[in-house]
Amino acid sequence: MEKKFYITTPIYYPSANFHIGHCYSTIIADSLARYKKLDGFDTYFLTGSDEHGQKIEKKASEAGLEPKEYIDKIVDNAKDLWKKLGITYDRFIRTTDEDHVDAVQKIFKQLYDQGDIYKGEYRGKYCTPCESFWTESQLVDGNCPDCHREVQEVSEEAYFLRLSKYQKRLEEYIEAHPEFIQPESRKNEMVNNFLKPGLEDLCVSRTSFSWGIPVTFDEKHVVYVWLDALSNYITALGYNSDDETLFKKFWPADVHIVGKEIVRFHTIIWPIILMALDLPLPKKVFGHGWLVIDGAKIAKSVGNYKDPREYIDLYSADAVRYFSLREIPFGSDGNFSEDALIARINSDLANVWGNLVNRTIGMANKYFNGNITNPHTTEEIDTPFIEAIDNLKKDTDAKIEELQVSKVLESIFDVLRASNKYIDDTTPWTLAKDETKKDRLETVLYNLLEAIRVTNILLKPFMPESTAKVEKYLNSQNTRFEEAKFIENQTYQVTDSPKPLFERIQKEQ
Ligand code: MSP
Repeated sequence: MEKKFYITTPIYYPSANFHIGHCYSTIIADSLARYKKLDGFDTYFLTGSDEHGQKIEKKASEAGLEPKEYIDKIVDNAKDLWKKLGITYDRFIRTTDEDHVDAVQKIFKQLYDQGDIYKGEYRGKYCTPCESFWTESQLVDGNCPDCHREVQEVSEEAYFLRLSKYQKRLEEYIEAHPEFIQPESRKNEMVNNFLKPGLEDLCVSRTSFSWGIPVTFDEKHVVYVWLDALSNYITALGYNSDDETLFKKFWPADVHIVGKEIVRFHTIIWPIILMALDLPLPKKVFGHGWLVIDGAKIAKSVGNYKDPREYIDLYSADAVRYFSLREIPFGSDGNFSEDALIARINSDLANVWGNLVNRTIGMANKYFNGNITNPHTTEEIDTPFIEAIDNLKKDTDAKIEELQVSKVLESIFDVLRASNKYIDDTTPWTLAKDETKKDRLETVLYNLLEAIRVTNILLKPFMPESTAKVEKYLNSQNTRFEEAKFIENQTYQVTDSPKPLFERIQKEQ
């Protein structure tokens, strides 16, 4: 069977320029997509922007622009940011794209025709910044449970999606597919807080604003944003279009990467839409934690952040990628600060990885003019070291399967640390003083080059720029994922003067 992998990020609201929090979701998805691609999977990686709704309409009018004009600038800015961060998406979908609009209109009509969408009256509480409707019981102290701001009482004619009809089926599905909602704590939250109390039907159209996809058979209504937004995952692949090749090949998604605050939409509303359309459900929804500053979520509405490009320009895209992936453990929040970023660069990238590469290549040049083969003059200390190199890919594969990206990096850096220790234990500079130890010295350097080569292959998805440099320094032909194992015999002719991979950052006081 052909190996395929379809991964998505949320489509972000282009109400303001994107911040480091948006970068986080996108960096994880990009790294997973790159990993699978390099591992031989036919991969599709989707990201984009969620462009309709009252909030965007309001923002644009405040700026004196038409909504589309306002958004176009933000989307250009976002695409530039993704380029600078090395994000390799296959499509950047915009919910104003014609094919998406057309497909959503067809979905709405189909669900209406089959009785899953019906007309009624909406009464309830609405949080404009979050674009979320809440029931009285979901409010916290009368305020929005997500952002804690005031909500407004609203009432208008609206169409509804019958969530209640599918509740039981969804409960059974979640029960039968324990891997569907990741991590497990989020699954329990969904089941206990949302499913068990019973689902209320969902409002899927509005008449109080016009910046949205028109309902074809009732033009004063526009499709309310979550039905529009969630459908992007299938419309981007050509669902409901003349050409469904991509859809047939890639759906269902292997994983939707989403922030924890929108797991609810992806594990309750989205599956029900798919059930109503008679389509298979995504295999996994991964709800990751947030990057926080002093405990508060980095957010457009709070304004507690800089343009991510400032960090990229100062410290490199790879450093920002590494920090984001390493600092946030599976599903939890992680603190973002420039000091923490610098600490990671110094402790891991410069001291461990950069140092190992420089020392090893330096010694290969000094003692062998950069030319190293394997004389197989082994000692006991080599066995666990070579085993660690050989087993690394199995370990990272398993952790990727569990979406434990931070742990993948930990495992790779464990081998890099072990390599530095191997240098300290074997003391090549002492071996170099003794002519009879020449073969042993070369074996040690060969083993180290193998460690650098194998870790470098596995680091490619996470830090594409720096690994490309190391690849050049090593100058080996064996750079593919299937070669991420200890190779007994190859000839290295390494570069003669590598620049430091990462400079240590001295923080100005
Ligand atoms: N448009 C909806 C998603 C629709 S998906 C069909 C939306 N957009 S958003 O602009 O608010 O972006 C939300 C996503 O950005 C979160 O789910 C999360 O992935 C990411 N993040 C926003 N702030 C974040 C942090 N401070 N930290 C980590 N991720 C954060 O919701």
